[in-house]
Amino acid sequence: SVVILDYGSQYTRLIARRIRELRAYSVILPGTASLERIQAERPQALILSGGPASVFEPNSPRPAPGVLEQGWPVLGICYGMQYLAQYFGGRVERAGRREYGKANLVHHTGPLFAGLEGELQMWMSHSDAVTELPPGWQVIASTEENPVAAIAAPDGRTFGVQFHPEVVHSPKGMQVLENFLELAGVVRDWTAQHTLEHLIADIRAKVGDEKVLLAVSGGVDSSTLALLLARAIGDRMTAVFVDHGLLRLGERQEVEQALRPLGKALRVVEASGQFLSALRGVTDPEQKRKIVGREFIRVFEREARQLSAQGYRWLAQGTLYPDVIESAGSGEGSANIKSHHNVGGLPEDLQFELLEPFRYLFKDEVRELALLLGLPEPIRMRHPFPGPGLAIRILGEVTPQKLEILRRADDIFISSLRDWNLYDQVSQAAAILTPMQSVGVVGDERSYGYVLGLRAVSTVDFMTADWARLPLEFLDEVARKITRQVPEIGRVVYDITSKPPATIEWE
Ligand code: XMP
Repeated sequence: SVVILDYGSQYTRLIARRIRELRAYSVILPGTASLERIQAERPQALILSGGPASVFEPNSPRPAPGVLEQGWPVLGICYGMQYLAQYFGGRVERAGRREYGKANLVHHTGPLFAGLEGELQMWMSHSDAVTELPPGWQVIASTEENPVAAIAAPDGRTFGVQFHPEVVHSPKGMQVLENFLELAGVVRDWTAQHTLEHLIADIRAKVGDEKVLLAVSGGVDSSTLALLLARAIGDRMTAVFVDHGLLRLGERQEVEQALRPLGKALRVVEASGQFLSALRGVTDPEQKRKIVGREFIRVFEREARQLSAQGYRWLAQGTLYPDVIESAGSGEGSANIKSHHNVGGLPEDLQFELLEPFRYLFKDEVRELALLLGLPEPIRMRHPFPGPGLAIRILGEVTPQKLEILRRADDIFISSLRDWNLYDQVSQAAAILTPMQSVGVVGDERSYGYVLGLRAVSTVDFMTADWARLPLEFLDEVARKITRQVPEIGRVVYDITSKPPATIEWE
């Protein structure tokens, strides 16, 4: 394994993920973990993470005595490099100013940079700098501002890098990490199957013989979590799926089908009447969102109350690592797991312990698990769908008639995307029913139908998005099909606005 000693960097988890991507098993331990604790992991290499501390501070966290004397190959990143330099007899100084952002390595050399000829962009964020090397060490990279951007020990297996190879702003950083694993002789046979086994063991250890409640939305995260929990603890889990009547055509059936392995552990709550009457007459988008959220909590609370009375202690959530980073703001520190948690708007007297097995996974890792757990392809590769569902894709008031119209049109759009093999090439696609009607002609008669918007975007993070350049022949076919099969729609338009300034949804 690779043991990552954490000195508080917001990127520590990212390092772990990168190592896993390179198919090596990694564990994160506190930077001050004892030698015995580290030995128990039988490390083939250590990585010292970055961190906010400075080696000058007397109380800055550092490896326990003996840890750097075991002959283990070490990669020190940022603070980790500074610590190595100081520990082995070099010198670190305050740089006076902070080097922050993208930097080009003007010079780099040696096996750590094998396969990386030419200019290399790496991400920097530091204000201390190594100014004198330990005896026998070498400088192996420099930037314009920083002559010591990477160093190598005489053993040829221990290195320090001032930059962050693990972040996306270091486009070739993965190669540096891979080179380190190769030089360190780390075995690389880690697979999603191992992750799955670890997660199952963790869940069993944590939950013991207690019971778990889970809300499933039909998205990939909660569906995968449902299958994982079923595998780990069987019928000591109940998954609640609330049908709020704002789902797409056939979506509920699709989810029920996919989660059939759960048997009786899947509880589908029909609540569309409740949601639709709460939404009656409401046109404001934020109001609609609030109402759907409130009604959802009401329904879920009813279920949770019953189950809590039956001794359910845990509430499982499909929180992913990016959600953890986002809600933490500046870093991981503030995101420390609150173990006793009043969850997501549930009332004070309903206390659940929070179970978040995907807390350190990224979406594509969850999709790999989903594959192993047998989640059907359409759900596994599904685009995100907003919690308030079609309520925010019908501009203005939500009525049963409009839901019915939108469902049919949306189904034509989405299934055509699949037929044309375009579905996986866009990040999200939606049909939007506007309240606008326009004049047309059908046969010899004047018609008056709704304007339907089609939206498809490509994006990595959903914070910015580009409108998808769908083929014109495809759009033509979809428009013809929709106006033919959904006569209430008179006109189809395609949204060619990117985000920003537009958002992905229209409301
Ligand atoms: P926007 O429209 O803000 O959407 O560009 C970005 C992403 O978030 C989804 N979205 C929502 N998801 N509840 C959700 O669960 C919401 O109220 C909501 N609004 C937007 C949207 O579908 C897109 O993926």
